[in-house]
Amino acid sequence: MPRQRQRRSVRVSFPDYSSQVEVERGKSVLEAVRQAGLALESECGGRGTCGRCRVRFLGQAPAPTGDDRLLLGDEAIAQGWRLACQAILTEDGRLALPPPVVEGGLRILTEAYGPAQPPAAAPAAPAGTFGAAVDVGTTTVVCYLLDLGEASQVGVASFANPQRRLGPDVVSRILYAHQGREQLLEARDCLVAAIEEALVGLCAKRRVPLRALSRIAVVGNPTMLHLLLGVDPWSLGVAPYQPTFTDAPPVAATEVGFRRLARAELVPLPAVAGHLGSDAVAGLLALGLPRRRGLFLFIDLGTNGEMVLTSDGDAVGASCAAGPAFEGVHISSGMSALPGAIEWVDEEDGRLALATIGGAEPQGICGSGLVDAVALLLRRGLL
Ligand code: FES
Repeated sequence: MPRQRQRRSVRVSFPDYSSQVEVERGKSVLEAVRQAGLALESECGGRGTCGRCRVRFLGQAPAPTGDDRLLLGDEAIAQGWRLACQAILTEDGRLALPPPVVEGGLRILTEAYGPAQPPAAAPAAPAGTFGAAVDVGTTTVVCYLLDLGEASQVGVASFANPQRRLGPDVVSRILYAHQGREQLLEARDCLVAAIEEALVGLCAKRRVPLRALSRIAVVGNPTMLHLLLGVDPWSLGVAPYQPTFTDAPPVAATEVGFRRLARAELVPLPAVAGHLGSDAVAGLLALGLPRRRGLFLFIDLGTNGEMVLTSDGDAVGASCAAGPAFEGVHISSGMSALPGAIEWVDEEDGRLALATIGGAEPQGICGSGLVDAVALLLRRGLL
């Protein structure tokens, strides 16, 4: 009997999404999920430590790994749940994913409150010249279309950063992008494609010809700018947490993967150091703080939080991972502030009392619930 040659790829289907992908044998389930373009939480960047990437095999599941046992528990394992980043594909399989995180409540701030300070000397641009300003946040991205000749804003668009499926915070994205060139470009390309789609949409709405868009100024924390420019951000993930660059020269947008805005130049604003990025620099400039007398504290409370204290033009700044603190990251039952998250904990008549967002069945606990729980434990002398 002639032996059948083993296929080099396996077929993975996701019946709930009517989706199927052909994946190289030996890849992880997490890679198959990403290849299918589906969303799955992966906070540790695939290191098998966060337990968020669980998937359920609808058939024969592979033998559980030590991480599966540690993070999922016997009952879930018996039901076919495995960690997607640890499960290696050796044969065709059918998979179910946990219900997607509800993002209906994601509100993105796109407007300024209070007057921005105009730059000391704004360079004049010829009439009919357009530009864009893009704020690349770890969680959200906001794009503004600007009439440079008129020095006015003509449109704004915002969306959730598509890199979220690669990891929710800067550390997990650093880990993901550092795996190899393919992953680095995946992180860059999904972001570039989303920015381009938003800007092309704004141009269409305002009847601005794409060739009139000459400049795209970009700000973001250093990890976001590294990823946008296709530079491995690894040095930001290890001590002493310094970026490869703080001040990148302008590049042709096509060099980083833009296709339709072929005439535009991408202008990254300079960052400061560590995780203190050009978004903080832009905030200080917009408020005119470098020129203002007195003491001011500038706080950008984002997923990557940044703060700068200014005093008569002098400034000192710091950054911190603010987002995960509010989203229960690395807490076994932690979750974002979404429906079902325990947001309030106290005691009433000697009994534990809870409230969840939206009054839904408890799904996990978010930052405000954690703070309440810690306060209660302290009060009761249990902590
Ligand atoms: Fe799989 Fe964290 S355990 S991504």
